[in-house]
Amino acid sequence: MSHDTSYPAISDLKARARARLPRFVWEYLDSGTGTERARRAGSEALQEIEMMPSILHGEFTPDLGTTLFDRAHPLPFGIGPVGMSGLVWPDAERHLARAAAAARLPYTLSTVAAQTPEDIGPLAGKDAWFQLYPPRDEGIRLDMLKRARDAGFKVLVLTVDVPVASRRERQTRSGLTQPPRLTPRLMAQVALRPAWALGMARMGLPRMRMIDGYSGDTSGLPSTAHAGYLLRTSPDAAYLDWLRAHWDGPLVVKGVLDPADVPMLEAAGVDGIWISNHGGRQFDGAPASARQLPLIRKATRLPLIFDGGITGGLDILRALALGADFVMMARPWHYALAALGPEGLPYLVRILTADMSANMGQLGARHLGDLPERLIPPRRG
Ligand SMILES: Cc1cc2nc3c(=O)[nH]c(=O)nc-3n(C[C@H](O)[C@H](O)[C@H](O)COP(=O)(O)O)c2cc1C
Repeated sequence: MSHDTSYPAISDLKARARARLPRFVWEYLDSGTGTERARRAGSEALQEIEMMPSILHGEFTPDLGTTLFDRAHPLPFGIGPVGMSGLVWPDAERHLARAAAAARLPYTLSTVAAQTPEDIGPLAGKDAWFQLYPPRDEGIRLDMLKRARDAGFKVLVLTVDVPVASRRERQTRSGLTQPPRLTPRLMAQVALRPAWALGMARMGLPRMRMIDGYSGDTSGLPSTAHAGYLLRTSPDAAYLDWLRAHWDGPLVVKGVLDPADVPMLEAAGVDGIWISNHGGRQFDGAPASARQLPLIRKATRLPLIFDGGITGGLDILRALALGADFVMMARPWHYALAALGPEGLPYLVRILTADMSANMGQLGARHLGDLPERLIPPRRG
């Protein structure tokens, strides 16, 4: 049976991924925090959005292209940052970077990825983005920026919604430790998932290779405390000013939900705002990105990047209709990788493209810019 009949939607890839991953890996990838309300709200808020279909508009092929930071993209979506993608699939970061380059999508490499910027930048090509968890130490900060720039990363993304560690109760229940340690309990979970076990046996358990490289710089700290010491500081406005002064390419702040923060971000000279509740992984009380997007759209003309809970091409159209300029996804790419291996990535690009095109045909939208006028305002009462 072809993939098209077995996995027509992201939900099918997700179900297959769940069946192929050891429990602790699945919980790492899929979980939010607390009761998981904020994670669920991401998709639910999108799916409440209705759009008006159009009739008698004649035949056309929709144009899915857009421009962001002076780069033309054939599709309005990309790959958001995921720490330790390599835990989900062997060499995941390389596969993601190659697939992104082939489809001319941006790929955002996380500070806590399992591969270094030097290894990934050249594979991701002209649309390599680097996501920064703010290092405390100025020397390390300077070094990370230089390494990202030298490796070809064009856009810098500062994530600001991890001021403290979150509890991620599902991950704890599964027996996952930081960094992952293969306890007998985890070994038993691995034994049930031979495809994953085989892949990891070849590659070895992944590590946060960029962070590992700085372990000599703060002596005497064990490795988890070390990552925490290196990165877990809540940046402030002065930190953002410092980054602006030291990065001359596009600078994006990720994890924005409050329109009241817009003036501060504009004053700091950022080039884009990434609306996200971190997939519900940080604060279970947070609103869904889709609820905040229209408010932030009203507050600024800066490019807006959106993520959170995309379940298919129609959700991408909904976010664009609400005022997003670009849409990122994190978990769906990893569901595709775990479900089908590397070929899952171009496959996901294909089904998202087909879904967007079909829905734009229903909406009579020839260009992405036509989408906002098809939005039905929420009915009151
Ligand atoms: C397993 C996992 C790891 C993540 N790691 C990072 C990270 O290192 N940096 C970051 O800024 N966001 C990280 N995120 C958040 C995602 O970039 C994204 O904001 C969130 O998952 C919502 O998108 P989604 O609903 O498409 O998954 C991570 C998310 C997941 C699921």
